[in-house]
Amino acid sequence: MLSKSKLQTQKLAVRFAKKILRSSQDLKLTKVIALRGDLGTGKTTFTQGFMGALGVRHRVTSPTFLIVRKYEISTPIKRGFIHFHHAYHFDLYRIQKPKELLDLGFKKIISDPHNILLIEWPERVKKILPKDTIWIEFEHGKSEKERIITVTSD
Ligand SMILES: Nc1ncnc2c1ncn2[C@@H]1O[C@H](COP(=O)(O)OP(=O)(O)OP(=O)(O)O)[C@@H](O)[C@H]1O
Ligand SMILES: [Mg+2]
Repeated sequence: MLSKSKLQTQKLAVRFAKKILRSSQDLKLTKVIALRGDLGTGKTTFTQGFMGALGVRHRVTSPTFLIVRKYEISTPIKRGFIHFHHAYHFDLYRIQKPKELLDLGFKKIISDPHNILLIEWPERVKKILPKDTIWIEFEHGKSEKERIITVTSD
């Protein structure tokens, strides 16, 4: 997908969020969305749109210095048989190894079925991400405001 503005990236994220929330009736569902791309390619911008679509009312900002922020979903969202209550936004730019993420209580967060997770700089912890993680690639386009956004499964 090609985005030509910040707003368009947020709108793409809203569409993506609605699609994955509709997508499956299975018990076992993807709950990690990995956002991979260089600095300034729109990962946080995408997260803002995604969180808005989930019903997060709080303003979403980059968690760079905190590594993770937890957001409440105002009206828990149902997907399949699961209700999501919290959305987590990770920025692992400052993390070098999976252990540092595990030390932040990652196992507990990921194993709670009511949580959904978006992760920036996910390649640093690829080893500990679930197999069914959805990977989204962000790249700079030809002009200043162009971004190429590609959804893959790996
Ligand atoms: N098409 C576009 N989509 C998204 N952001 C855009 C676009 N065009 C310009 N921008 C600008 O690019 C910047 C993207 O910043 P953002 O924080 O979302 O990037 P990021 O990938 O999260 O970077 P970082 O790796 O530093 O966290 C913003 O300043 C935004 O205004
Ligand atoms: Mg960011």
